[in-house]
Amino acid sequence: MEINPADLAIAERYKLLIGTVVPRPIAFVSTVSPEGQPNLAPFSFFNGVGSNPMTVLFCPANNPDGSEKDTLRNAKPTSEGGTGQFVVNLAVESYIRKVAAAADTYPYGESEFDAVGLTPAPSVTVAPPRVTESPAAFECETVQVIRTNPGEPAGGNIVIGRVTHAFVRDDLVNERFHTDQEKLAAVGRMGGLRYCTTREQFELPPKREALDLQDPIQ
Ligand SMILES: Cc1cc2nc3c(=O)[nH]c(=O)nc-3n(C[C@H](O)[C@H](O)[C@H](O)COP(=O)(O)O)c2cc1C
Repeated sequence: MEINPADLAIAERYKLLIGTVVPRPIAFVSTVSPEGQPNLAPFSFFNGVGSNPMTVLFCPANNPDGSEKDTLRNAKPTSEGGTGQFVVNLAVESYIRKVAAAADTYPYGESEFDAVGLTPAPSVTVAPPRVTESPAAFECETVQVIRTNPGEPAGGNIVIGRVTHAFVRDDLVNERFHTDQEKLAAVGRMGGLRYCTTREQFELPPKREALDLQDPIQ
C-alpha cells in the first residue's frame, strides 16, 4: 500500500503511526500547575535525546478542540505561562494499570495521584513530585517546546527537557550504571490498546559481527 498522509483522516494517520512506530517506551509525566496542583499522565511518544547534557523529550498532542493538554500547559516554559518543569516516571509492570487509568479525563487541577491511587514523593530539583511506585524518575527543566501545528486538533508538540536529577531504585543499577532490565520490567505501548513487556530479550555482537551470528530470533 502506498499512502499519501494528506489523503487520510487525522484518526487514520494516528492509527498508522501508533501501530507501526512500536514498541514505544512510556513516560509517566508528573507536573504541577502554576497554582501548584499536581497532574499525572502517560505519554508514549517519548524518548531520550542526548547525554551531554542529559536530555529527554515527550510529545503531548493537542486536544480535539486544538487546546493544549494539561501536561503541556504545566510543563511549558514560564515565558509561555507554564512552570518549565516536569518529571518523567518510568512505566513498569507493577503499576501499569494505574498508568493507563491516569490517561482518563480529569478536570484541570484534579490530581491523578489521588484518582488512581499513587503516592507522590518530593523531587530534589523541581516542584512536581515523582511517583513513589516508579523505580526510576528523571526530574527535568523544560528547554523548549516545538509545536508542529499550534492550536489545531491533534497538532504535535515536542517538549524537550534537560534532566536536572535522576532517581533510580538502588537494586536496579550497579556501580558501572548498568541497569538490571529484568528487575526494571519496563512496559511498552503498541498499537490500539496493546502493550508489551520487555521480558524477552537477546544480544547481538557489535557492528558487522552481528551478521556472523545465527538469527537469534527463531
Ligand atoms: C500508555 C498511554 C500512552 C499515551 N501516549 C500519549 C502520547 O504520546 N501523546 C499524547 O498526546 N497522549 C498520549 N496518551 C493520552 C494521554 O495520556 C491523555 O490524553 C491524558 O488525559 C492527558 O492528560 P493531561 O490532559 O493531564 O495532560 C497516552 C495514553 C496512554 C494510556
